[in-house]
Amino acid sequence: MKKILVTGGAGFIGSHVVLELLHSGYEAIIVDNFYNSCPEIITRLNSLKPHGSHFSVVEADICDQVAMDTLFKEHNFHAVIHCAGYKAVAESVAKPLEYYKNNLLGTIVLCEVMKKYDVTRLIFSSSATVYGAPHYLPIDETHPTGGCTNPYGWTKWMNEQILRDVAHANTEWSVILLRYFNPIGAHKSGKIGDAPQGIPNNIAPIITQAAIGKLPYIAVTGNDYDTPDGTGVRDYIHILDLASGHVAALTYLDTHTGVEAVNLGTGHGTSVLELIHGFEKAVGHTIPQKFSERRPGDIASCYCTPAKAHRLFGGWSAVHTAEEMCADAWRWQSQNPEGYK
Ligand code: WQD
Repeated sequence: MKKILVTGGAGFIGSHVVLELLHSGYEAIIVDNFYNSCPEIITRLNSLKPHGSHFSVVEADICDQVAMDTLFKEHNFHAVIHCAGYKAVAESVAKPLEYYKNNLLGTIVLCEVMKKYDVTRLIFSSSATVYGAPHYLPIDETHPTGGCTNPYGWTKWMNEQILRDVAHANTEWSVILLRYFNPIGAHKSGKIGDAPQGIPNNIAPIITQAAIGKLPYIAVTGNDYDTPDGTGVRDYIHILDLASGHVAALTYLDTHTGVEAVNLGTGHGTSVLELIHGFEKAVGHTIPQKFSERRPGDIASCYCTPAKAHRLFGGWSAVHTAEEMCADAWRWQSQNPEGYK
């Protein structure tokens, strides 16, 4: 059975990727320092894993060279899916050095230990944020990158460059830079989902926390953008589709070398008001909301064409609807008002 290391595998993205790996016949090893995730998620994953599947967890920081060397000495990894990293945009503006140190050093230590143990397949959790403000829409992978508006985005962009240079120097490596658009939703069981610590940064947990009364209302940040209803437009993709995209990318790694950047999105733009409306249908009542000022650095519209993913990953495409994204996110939030606590 092929063994896949998932760094940050106890996080929102990582945990859904782990489940998809198990359903697809892989063995998964999670390495996570639980800085931004809860050990309870491991209990939930054990309750959800397919019969006969196997995963294990190592609590460690990927910046810890000794711990990572021990991990690679113990396991013969077929590939690595690298999700570990700080990811709060606003926090990155306030704490740039922490973001650059953690997100870049983590990738460098991981690549060093992969090289030492001759592990040559890597999927990197990148982000649409590397595109900066769109020059055109929909965004394809040839769109210029850079012009990021925050240190978090720059760490994604810099990590992509590091990985391109590593793959150039090691031609047997195969690297996929998966550029996530806006992952939302949750596993259909409602047992795992997005559990941001403290006040959420992203719109979906903000909406669901306002729906259960944990937040007094949704502050719709900006309604004067050049969009159909004046609110921000994004490409929301169900976390289950994002997870299946990772498994499809793994298959591609087995037969190719070099580096490919690939968008993971639906190709459809949804406004904040449309998203809120979708959640109100799932919740069954209106959710308090107020218009407020734009967030600094926010852009009006950002959505992709997922044609390259469809072409490279054996016909992959996102299949879950916006209604499912809202219903599944709501099921998770309503069943877990305090997240994993
Ligand atoms: C979506 C829309 C806001 C909060 C960022 C990162 C990306 C990825 C996802 C980490 C926008 C509006 C938001 C609020 C609002 N990174 N909004 N009220 O900014 O597209 O992307 O998060 O996981 O790399 O760049 O996502 O969910 O923060 O915002 O109206 O309180 O919701 O203006 O239009 P974003 P988001």
